[in-house]
Amino acid sequence: MISGKKTTPTIIVIFGGSGDLSKRKLLPAFYNLFLDGWMPDTFAIIGLGLNDFNDQQYVDFIEDGLGQFSRKGKPSGPTWDDFKSRLHYIPANMNEEVTYSNLAAKINALDQQWNVRADRLFYLSIAPRFVEVVAVNLHKQGLASNPTTDRVVIEKPFGHNKESAMALNNLLTGLFQESQLYRIDHYLGKETVQNILAFRFANALFEPLWNRNYIDSVQITVAEQVGVEERGGYYESAGALRDMVQNHLLQLLCMIAMEPPVSFDAEEIRNRKADVMRAIKPIKPDEVSKVAVRGQYDAGWIEGKKVPGYREEPGVSPHSNAETYVAVKFHLDNWRWQGVPFYIRTGKRMPEKTSSITIQFHPIPHSSFPEHLYDSVTPNRLIINIQPQMDIRLRFTAKRQGLEMNLNPVEMVFDYDTCSTASPEAYETLLLDALQGDATLFMRSDQVLIAWDVVTPILESWESHNSIDFPNYSAGMWGPENAEALIARQGHTWSALSRNK
Ligand code: BG6
Repeated sequence: MISGKKTTPTIIVIFGGSGDLSKRKLLPAFYNLFLDGWMPDTFAIIGLGLNDFNDQQYVDFIEDGLGQFSRKGKPSGPTWDDFKSRLHYIPANMNEEVTYSNLAAKINALDQQWNVRADRLFYLSIAPRFVEVVAVNLHKQGLASNPTTDRVVIEKPFGHNKESAMALNNLLTGLFQESQLYRIDHYLGKETVQNILAFRFANALFEPLWNRNYIDSVQITVAEQVGVEERGGYYESAGALRDMVQNHLLQLLCMIAMEPPVSFDAEEIRNRKADVMRAIKPIKPDEVSKVAVRGQYDAGWIEGKKVPGYREEPGVSPHSNAETYVAVKFHLDNWRWQGVPFYIRTGKRMPEKTSSITIQFHPIPHSSFPEHLYDSVTPNRLIINIQPQMDIRLRFTAKRQGLEMNLNPVEMVFDYDTCSTASPEAYETLLLDALQGDATLFMRSDQVLIAWDVVTPILESWESHNSIDFPNYSAGMWGPENAEALIARQGHTWSALSRNK
């Protein structure tokens, strides 16, 4: 929620600067912001990482990443020359103090060159085990000492469970002000996710219907076609519940279920979202098997190509208990949503990559149509397609053209493809917000902890009982059969996603 270009000189420091996220997302995002005129006139980016790059090798590494992953393609010309002259690299071992004195020297040199103490943005794109040592050393060197201009961005996962998240929060808030901490959840930067706020709160039409009186159920699906790729080591201790549900899916749920905010002030929005998570009915240990389903993919076929099962992926145990699929039914204990099930599901190795939210409205209370048309009256449904298809579709029933009365479901569609401007990447939005000091789309410490509360009963139950039927879905399928049963119990079926188009 940007108000204008940042003007003050800024130094961006990326711990993990030679890592995958930097190459695929962070540097392409900064470069695109630069191309679009959003970066301050005076800025520098310092990457720190284990690779033994010099500045030129770092530039080559970034150039390769931009060529492969930037939505604007291969960089070239004077703008690229200008951008690359601002890139610096320090080979670094995060555990060694010399890393931080080298960094301090580099930052001081830039400050002196610019004759100003620049604002500082530290991005921790590193494995969770390094967060503590980096944070402690940043503090020790006084590198983020200005609470209004220095910020620290922390990638997920934020903790491994509630206890470790609390410990991390305590550590970080002991070293920095909460207002300096930007816990990133990149789903909140997605254009279509932000549009949920516009859709709900910039239109008078939907709010009166947005409750238990009109809405029958809500489904949130985040399906991925990829497997765990090279991240088996991390995924083994995370699983889909920690990797996707505790953060991305719960955040989507909050956007759908939150009360209208009084203003778009960061604290107000975060308060309203925290209210939603507090309203989620706690799941009792003996209810877990009734409301949550886990799955793990076996070998199978994706788009005509044979792919290995999860247990055959690099870094994964042949007896792994890690779930690659989760479906959960949540209920919210508040006036607006009492009795409305929120079904969420996410999985890897699904038939296609697709994220969408389906709001299913109640059937009409009485049909005035002749009996043979009863089944043609389909309940209204609103679909918010988040990615890769980006649109909002409202399904309603209409008369089929002709002399007879026949009914058909039809759709009103808002399609992003018809807009003339390309959507920014989630990281572009979020990095610009962090540069500007707008924390609205970032997670506050209490939100992270409540999200852990929500998933903890499921985590504990699944960790204490290994699944006996893993692997229980083949790659290329929409998850295990139990997931159908989970939702069928209340007379529902999962939306047929490939047919949303
Ligand atoms: C990340 C998860 O946070 O989100 C990955 O760690 C997942 O496992 C990714 O693949 C999905 O992001 P997106 O933007 O591609 O939906």
